[in-house]
Amino acid sequence: MERDWQAWHREYDQPGSRLDRRLGAVQGCIREALDRMPPGPIRAISACAGEGRDLLGVLADHPRAKDVTGRLVELDPTLVARAAANAPPGVGVVCGDASTTSAYAGAVPADLVLMCGIFGNVALPDIRNTLHALPTLCAPGATVVWTRHRRPPDRTDDIRRWLAATGFEEAAFIGSDDLFGVGAHRLTSPPRPFEQGQRLFTFVGFDTLR
Ligand SMILES: C[S@@+](CC[C@H](N)C(=O)[O-])C[C@H]1O[C@@H](n2cnc3c(N)ncnc32)[C@H](O)[C@@H]1O
Repeated sequence: MERDWQAWHREYDQPGSRLDRRLGAVQGCIREALDRMPPGPIRAISACAGEGRDLLGVLADHPRAKDVTGRLVELDPTLVARAAANAPPGVGVVCGDASTTSAYAGAVPADLVLMCGIFGNVALPDIRNTLHALPTLCAPGATVVWTRHRRPPDRTDDIRRWLAATGFEEAAFIGSDDLFGVGAHRLTSPPRPFEQGQRLFTFVGFDTLR
């Protein structure tokens, strides 16, 4: 049965819930990345963005917000509408499929790439495939912020290892004792050229993977 992603988002509204705390960790990583970025324009993309609470929440009060443009990509039209209602000018919210590189044409190379709520919903080879493709979406020195649950088998170590092998240095990893992992990784190798039409992952959903 397909998961109700609108219902999934309601956990964010419970203070202290797992998702609320995960959001705090993700937003901390985004803030830190923005704090470190040199003066000038900043481009951000978010795959499977949901309501976009992570990036949009930070942009609500971050001093660099006026420099940020970007694209959030989400399939569910209701979630898209909610994100769009909170998005500042310059940050577009697209209702569409985030699973191929074509979704990001015109919005990359990005300085900030959000891959949150994806890696627990795609098969292991697709995690690896997506990580391998990240340098084609990134500007030099870009930061990727990602999440993955830590229920057995915990794949967060694999993800960290694969990111290192793909040319990223770890800026932060928050592995909570109640089973979520949040990472921020900075690209230290040169980006690779963007190519449209490359499949990143198939979003099968956590329930199907179990
Ligand atoms: C686990 S939620 C994560 C939402 C958000 N990134 C967050 O962390 O709060 C996964 C989201 O991916 C969306 N989604 C699933 N398949 C997608 C696809 N192929 N393209 C774009 N969005 C997709 C779902 O509608 C859902 O909102």
